[in-house]
Amino acid sequence: MKIKNREVEDLVFKSYLEEVLKKKKYLKMHRYLQHGNTSCLLHSIAVSYYSYRLCKFLKLKVHEKELIRGGLLHDYYLYDWHQKYKPTRNVGLHGRIHPKIALFNARKDFNVNYLEADIIEKHMFPLTFTPPRYKESVVVCIVDKICSVYEAFNKNAYCNITSRVIVDKKERRTVAKKINIYN
Ligand SMILES: [Fe+2]
Ligand SMILES: [Fe+2]
Repeated sequence: MKIKNREVEDLVFKSYLEEVLKKKKYLKMHRYLQHGNTSCLLHSIAVSYYSYRLCKFLKLKVHEKELIRGGLLHDYYLYDWHQKYKPTRNVGLHGRIHPKIALFNARKDFNVNYLEADIIEKHMFPLTFTPPRYKESVVVCIVDKICSVYEAFNKNAYCNITSRVIVDKKERRTVAKKINIYN
């Protein structure tokens, strides 16, 4: 039986994703909406996955682990930015502030290296002024924007489970199965 490259690549992605999903707090992102009906969790998984796929498509040599993990953690800010009383209201615009909050949270909960930090911190460029330093950061920055537009115009982007809160292992597996990246 011939194994397709795509299947191997998806297994690689899945292994890094599952490592991050082990952190229960990470799943909290499913409680907050990102754009449209898409939760922060699905948005982050999609940005990470399509960044990885884009690099494969363009045959870009990248640090895959950092690209995937940076994408997964780029919006790890853990609050609802649509709420009037969001934690950033006294410190500035959510769009400008949340990369720093995401990086702060990511450093607290995961071992984040310099490359992952750059991906997280610079993903809102040009809204935040410092440009991405590495090609992995550039890819995530671009894919994040494409995914955001897609989500804004699609009520059920990526899957139809955005309103659910994932709390246990069984649910987590259900989510993984339902996210169409594994199809
Ligand atoms: Fe973001
Ligand atoms: Fe994002």
